[in-house]
Formats: sequence, structure tokens, C-alpha cells
Amino acid sequence: MMKLTKKITRMKLMYRLMLSFFAIIVLLMVILSISFINVTNRSMYEDTWRQLEQDADSLVQDSIRYDPVDHEFEGFASPSLNTNARLLSHQDVHFAVYDVSKQPVFSSNGFTPTITAKDWQQLKDGRTIKLRLTTPRLSKKVSDTSLPRMTEIIKPYRNGNKTVAVVAIATFASSLERNMHEIKLNLLVALFCAGLLTLIASYIFSRSITLRINRLRRLTYQVAKGNYDVRLRILGNDEIGDLARSFNQMTASLKSSQEEIHRQEERRRQFMANAAHEMRTPLTTINGILEGLEYDVIPEEDKKHSIELMQNETKRLIRLVNDNLNYEKIRTNQISMERKLFDASAVLHNLQKQLDKKARSQGDKLELQISNGLMVYADYDRFVQIMFNIIQNAIQFTEKGIIQIRGKQLANGTQFEVADNGIGMTPDQLDNIWERYYKADRSRMNTKYGESGLGLAIVHQLVQLHGGKISVQSELGKGSTFTVFFPNSKTLTEENDQERK
Ligand SMILES: Nc1ncnc2c1ncn2[C@@H]1O[C@H](COP(=O)(O)OP(=O)(O)OP(=O)(O)O)[C@@H](O)[C@H]1O
Ligand SMILES: [Mg+2]
Repeated sequence: MMKLTKKITRMKLMYRLMLSFFAIIVLLMVILSISFINVTNRSMYEDTWRQLEQDADSLVQDSIRYDPVDHEFEGFASPSLNTNARLLSHQDVHFAVYDVSKQPVFSSNGFTPTITAKDWQQLKDGRTIKLRLTTPRLSKKVSDTSLPRMTEIIKPYRNGNKTVAVVAIATFASSLERNMHEIKLNLLVALFCAGLLTLIASYIFSRSITLRINRLRRLTYQVAKGNYDVRLRILGNDEIGDLARSFNQMTASLKSSQEEIHRQEERRRQFMANAAHEMRTPLTTINGILEGLEYDVIPEEDKKHSIELMQNETKRLIRLVNDNLNYEKIRTNQISMERKLFDASAVLHNLQKQLDKKARSQGDKLELQISNGLMVYADYDRFVQIMFNIIQNAIQFTEKGIIQIRGKQLANGTQFEVADNGIGMTPDQLDNIWERYYKADRSRMNTKYGESGLGLAIVHQLVQLHGGKISVQSELGKGSTFTVFFPNSKTLTEENDQERK
């Protein structure tokens, strides 16, 4: 038994399913056939008994004699018994009549069954005895075994409450047995055909189930290999359908987390690029001053100021590293902002000094038209970064020209303009300059200043963080003007309030 169960569990799922379908259906069919055979068998005997009883009744009615005066039982009329015996023997029915002293009064064709004392007891109580199959006891000449068996009933007849006679009547069971045999044969054939059909049906059934499981298995393998785009076609509402739905949910969530990982990675990459871009500005300045000191081209009175500038820039670098190279900020895409009101004219004067050398090397003139004490409400480092990038671009794309930096106070904020008369841009280029890594002219790669095509993308993002606006006007060959607007703190809070509403 243990061995068998082990063997079954090691079988392929498909054959196991097939086996269980098949076993259940065949078992059902066998049970049904057995009960069918039993019912038919019984009803066939019942019919025969009923028929025999009717025959017995009619022959008794025909031949029983009563005293006309006191209605006492007198006996049987032999002629009428003989007629009945003749008629019934044509139908293979034989009978014997007994009187109350248990003596046979009449027997057709020598049919004299023995009635036991127990039988007599029952008969006296008025009960009819029904026998399915008895050995025939027709006449002493005929051997018992050569004849088919008989179905028999023994019935008592009463006059008032006194038993007057007993009739035993029987017929050959051969036709019954033949019928039964035929029925069994038919059932066997039907059972065989049904078994065959069940086998085919269970094969188809189990195959459909295992096919679905196999599809799931193949796709699971794909997922294991890292392909999260696979989806199962859902067929049916059963457990396998549920499994398929869960499978699809699983791949969908795997896909979305994979996308999230990619997004984070992309953000990190962007952030690192931004940070590097941001660091280049102060480093360039420091490097420039160091070169100047090395070759002693900085006049004595400017040296102190140059060192201050370097200190400022190194502080900026430190702030940058402390603030931004923070994993959590990279992950959530945050940029730290610390807005305050400060003197923009001083910052721009500084920037002019820092970039003057570069401008001169391009043959450009850097002009500052800004009233002293022009204030701006912004994050100091970000403001420097924005203006530095725009001015640096202007120098980079202008040769032997003039670059004007203008600033003015408006009612709701401060506005700056950087205008150059350099190479300018086509409207098509203008549409794209805010894109990351966009460079209007690919051949400008690795020029002295602009390299990455990141500058304006960062500038744009930073201006937006300030709630400000940036725009460009440019004409190819004539020059470009960048306009940046920073709202003051009042306008900013009003706007925020409105947004909240
Ligand atoms: N003042 C300008 N005049 C003409 N073209 C400009 C000007 N400013 C920007 N551009 C165009 O816009 C492009 C994008 O500028 P952006 O500052 O983003 O990148 P970049 O200067 O090439 O590189 P970097 O990342 O080093 O700043 C430039 O490559 C240039 O083609
Ligand atoms: Mg640039």
C-alpha cells in the first residue's frame, strides 16, 4: 500500500489526475450496474411469482367444490384440474395440490415438491412461500440435474379461517436466467465502452489542466530570468485562474519596482551630474586665482580680495558637499533651499571679476549696468549658480562682443538680463536649450567652458524652485538675451497662499 502511494506521488500530475477521474467514474459505473442488476432481477422474480399466483388462483377457483348447503369444502373436481394441468403445461407451468393432511391430491406431470414441516407451519399461518430457484422434482424418471431450475410458490387456500388446501406451482427459470444473462452481457459491453470514453475524457481533462500549469511554469521561468513583461492569459475562474491572476499581479509589481529602481538610478545619475556641474564653477575660479598667484599677475592690492574670493568659493564647495551629496536627498529628489534677502549687485560685481579673465580671452567686454544695493530674495548659492551659468554661456558663445548684465527692481521682485551680441540661436534651437544634455552645435563639445549641455537645464530647474521665471530672446548671428525674474518674499507667500486655496 505504502509502495503504491509512493509510486502515485511520483507519477506525473497528469497521470495522477487521469487515474483519479478514471477510478471515480468506473467505480460509480460498477456500483450503478450492480444495483441495476439487483433491481431487474428482483422485479423479474416478482413478475413470475405474481403470474404463478394468478394461475394458482384461477385453477383453484375452477376446480374447488363446496357443499351447496353448508358451504363446507368438499374437494377438487379432477376433470377441471386435468384441464388446467394440460393448459398450464403448455406454458411450462406445473402444479400440485395438497390436502390439509399434507397428502398430494393432484400433481401435474409428476410435480411433487416436498414441503417441510417449517413450510407447513408458515402455510397454516396463511403465508405464501415464494422460492426463487428450486431443483425440479417433476417425476422420478427424470434426473434432477439435467433439467433447468424452477421458480416456485406454495400458497394455502382457506375457507373461512380454516386452511383447506395448499397449491405448489412452479415454472422453469431458464427464460429468466437467459434474460438476466443477456442483461449482464449488455451491461458489461456498456461498461467497457464507458470505461474507454472515460479514459479519453479524463485524458483531455487532465491535459487541459496540466497544459495551463505548464504555461505558468514556463512564464515563471521567464520571470526568474528577469523578464517582467510576461503576462498570463486568464482562462476560467477556478484555482488555476486565481493563480494566474496572482502571477500577473506579481509580475506587475515586480515590473513597477524594477522601474522604480531605474527611476532612482536615473535620479541619482542626474544628481551626480548636477553636483559635478555645480562644483566646476568654484573650482574654476579657485584655479584661475591660483594661476594668477603663481605667475604673480595679481596686483598686490588685489591679492587680499583674491584670497577672500577663494575662501568664499571653498566655503561654497563645502556647503555643496554637506548639503547635497546626501543619499536621502538624491533619493527623494530634493534640493536644499535657504532663501534670504541679499545684495545682488555685490554678487554680480564679484562674478564680473571672476569671469573677466575669461571674457577677455574671448575678446569680450563684460559690462555691468546695475544700481548699487539692488536686493534679491533668493538662495545665495543658487543665485550665484544661475547667474554664473548664464554669463558664462554668453561669454562662451560670443567672440569680440559686448555682454551686458542689467538688473532692476520691479514691484513684485527683481529682474536680471544678460544680453550678448554673439552667435545667437535659431528658433528651433531655442525650443530645446532647457533640455538636459542639449547642445545646439555638437561640434562645440569639449570647448573651454561648455561641455555637458547641463547648465541651462539646471538653471531652469533652480529658477522654478525659486518660483521665478526665465526666458530668452535670440536671433541667429545677432545675439541672445536671457531674462531671469526672482519674486520677492511677499509675492511668493501670496502665490503660495493662492495655490493652497
Ligand atoms: N548666450 C548663448 N548664445 C548662443 N547659444 C547659447 C547661449 N546660451 C546657451 N546657448 C545654447 O544652448 C546650449 C545649452 O546651453 P547649456 O549651458 O545648457 O550647455 P553648455 O553651455 O553647452 O554646457 P555646460 O553644461 O557646460 O553649460 C548651448 O550648447 C548653446 O548651444
Ligand atoms: Mg553652459
